Amino acid sequence: MTQTSTPAATEIQEIFDRIAPVYDQLNAWLSFGQHRVWKLMTVKWCNPKSGQKALDVCCGSGDLTQLLAKKVGSQGHVIGLDFSANLLAIAAQRISSQTPPLPIEWLEGDALNLPFEADIFDCATMGYGLRNVTDIPLALSELRRVLKPGGKVAILDFHHPSQDWMQLFQQWYLQTIVVPTANYFQVTEEYAYIYPSLERFPKGRQQVTLAYEAGFSQVVHYAIAGGLMGVLVAEK
Ligand SMILES: C[S@@+](CC[C@H](N)C(=O)[O-])C[C@H]1O[C@@H](n2cnc3c(N)ncnc32)[C@H](O)[C@@H]1O
Repeated sequence: MTQTSTPAATEIQEIFDRIAPVYDQLNAWLSFGQHRVWKLMTVKWCNPKSGQKALDVCCGSGDLTQLLAKKVGSQGHVIGLDFSANLLAIAAQRISSQTPPLPIEWLEGDALNLPFEADIFDCATMGYGLRNVTDIPLALSELRRVLKPGGKVAILDFHHPSQDWMQLFQQWYLQTIVVPTANYFQVTEEYAYIYPSLERFPKGRQQVTLAYEAGFSQVVHYAIAGGLMGVLVAEK
């Protein structure tokens, strides 16, 4: 694996604050709308039920948070947590006109030091966050800490495909499609970080090991979208 230096947390926070205004449109373009399907699958895997309390860590503009809120309904409660104030503002703006209102609370906070007591959430999600945190084992152990026993977390992110031709396709796609598209939105530098962050990111099997080491039981990694994406599902 190529060694690349890990950016500091403040650098990552600044990147996400800068790309906030174009984040949703870029996501839709770059995934050809498919990120919505992957997010639906992720929410299903953490099994939210009516009236439950759910957490979406690294919520960004709040796609997964909204999906969780629709599942837990008006009797439930969902917290969307992120350290980018700009993305949280967009998340809040997106749901402001929804009727009936969704049971969502937006919270500025750190995935590596969750501002909650232990054992309080029935389920949790994290979308494209694990690859960005500066300490993956700590992020996993924080998620486990705040889940109730038996609660599930589902973590969606890019993945290294196992087939050679898919790896080549991914490399070509990230370097030839993502960067020029980001250039169009004037966030080239910010999006160029995806490829090195994926290079550093543990593969599915390694993620499973890390989740067990964080104390989870029943851990499975599902490769989806031809192995280009993955969802790590773990139970406390
Ligand atoms: C690629 S975005 C994903 C946003 C959203 N979950 C989605 O799927 O569209 C990654 C998010 O992780 C957040 N993030 C990264 N490290 C974080 C940390 N340590 N604490 C809180 N948020 C963090 C960023 O601010 C950003 O909003």
